[in-house]
Amino acid sequence: MKFGDILQGTITRFDAKGRGVFDAPKGDGGNRPVIVPFATLGDTVEVSFIKRQEGCSITNLVRVLSAGPSRRSEALSKSLPHNPGMLWAHINYDDQISFKQEMINDALEGAGHDERVEHIIPCPPTVAANGHAAEDRLYYRNRMDYAIGWKGEVGLKEYGSWNRYIDLKDCLLLSPEAPKILEAFRGFMAKHPELKPWDAKRQEGDLRYLVVREGKQTNDRLIAIIVKDLERFSDEVRKDLVDQLDRFADNIVLGENPAVTDLSFGRTTVALKGKETFDEIVNGTRYTIQLNSFFQTNPLMAAKLQDVVMDFVSTTPHSPLPSTLLDLYCGLGFFAINAAQRFPNIKATGFEIYKHMIELAGINAQQNEVGDRCVFESGKAEELSWKDIEADVVIVDPPRAGLHHRVIETLLEKSPKTIIYVSCDYHHLVKELTQFKTKYEIKNITALDLFPHTPHVEVVVKMALKSGIMSS
Ligand SMILES: C[S@@+](CC[C@H](N)C(=O)[O-])C[C@H]1O[C@@H](n2cnc3c(N)ncnc32)[C@H](O)[C@@H]1O
Repeated sequence: MKFGDILQGTITRFDAKGRGVFDAPKGDGGNRPVIVPFATLGDTVEVSFIKRQEGCSITNLVRVLSAGPSRRSEALSKSLPHNPGMLWAHINYDDQISFKQEMINDALEGAGHDERVEHIIPCPPTVAANGHAAEDRLYYRNRMDYAIGWKGEVGLKEYGSWNRYIDLKDCLLLSPEAPKILEAFRGFMAKHPELKPWDAKRQEGDLRYLVVREGKQTNDRLIAIIVKDLERFSDEVRKDLVDQLDRFADNIVLGENPAVTDLSFGRTTVALKGKETFDEIVNGTRYTIQLNSFFQTNPLMAAKLQDVVMDFVSTTPHSPLPSTLLDLYCGLGFFAINAAQRFPNIKATGFEIYKHMIELAGINAQQNEVGDRCVFESGKAEELSWKDIEADVVIVDPPRAGLHHRVIETLLEKSPKTIIYVSCDYHHLVKELTQFKTKYEIKNITALDLFPHTPHVEVVVKMALKSGIMSS
């Protein structure tokens, strides 16, 4: 098989990344899985071969010969049917939910667990705009990092590619205003041809990312341009940038990332207008968020996630409620502050790797009037000494890679009465649950659709210390 060869088949399953799969005969009598992004179950597809990887054929979808029953009758976006940020946009929403539930339950079964997810809390309808219905569940994200490609594209990297870019004219994920922001930024680029778009191959250029972050409840917006070298941006150029973007944001920031790493992270930041932060409100808690800070990307569903976690906190075996809570991987204090607000007897400690986020978490606790019951510390979760930390309940919300083995070992050693595990990657979660089950009983597993039109899903597990085992 060589690059560009055409294959046909009917999709029978999804792989762990949510891509369609069919089997093609190998020649030795066996089969080889063929991986097809942007396909769904029952689709008969024509695909072109790209490469072999881990025993599979990776392909591009050329066309759908006949559609499976879960394929939408009409594409959500005609201009960009294969949107790299929306791998499942071609699937009916109800089917997306069923597929996610099946995938989590298959993973639980595969790891030897009897527990199952009974249902997935769906994302509610969002906003109707630009000819799209609220039921389409678009414009749910509060953050987009538009990459600037070497040909001057402003948009997203093609699915599976690191140096081919899609020049986005529209964006169905962020907000109805996104096309105008993209256009305004292109206007700035056209006026300043001396500023070169970033060339990832040669590691040269000036303009790397256009980052837009917004508070859906507050209408506060921050637009940041991530550049290679701030010194290339004279006062006059900075003024032009603000002039172009002025009507879209109260906060406009230049962020410098001189590193080889392709991150939309500003090592040095300078506010050209307003502040380097913006505000969002979730369930009545106000969070101030800095350009580089992690924050849940779907605030509508983040509120439901908080509700699920707080429901788990309030239904622990403590009487009448737990009085100490540790929020590990706390970000800006997302759970700790909300817990302190909801439960007046709770004292919360938050732990997070980034100092700048811990500083903001402290400010967030103060502005929500729970500063006296929240303490935040920075450091690696795997290096947490637990000295002076009391925790009836521990919430863990690690990044996609899951928990560090030392965190699991320490949790098992300290044995808090309740652990609430918030996971954005159930593949890691199901493996780690096996270790927790040596001391813990799983009381509840709830899944939430924080990421419509993608195969991603958030899973929250409540674990209670088995009776007879003491906390240390
Ligand atoms: C999925 S986010 C959750 C943040 C927060 N719970 C929230 O909902 O906004 C994971 C957080 O863990 C932090 N983090 C990553 N590695 C870490 C580590 N080794 N120790 C502590 N925190 C870490 C990240 O900076 C990020 O803020």
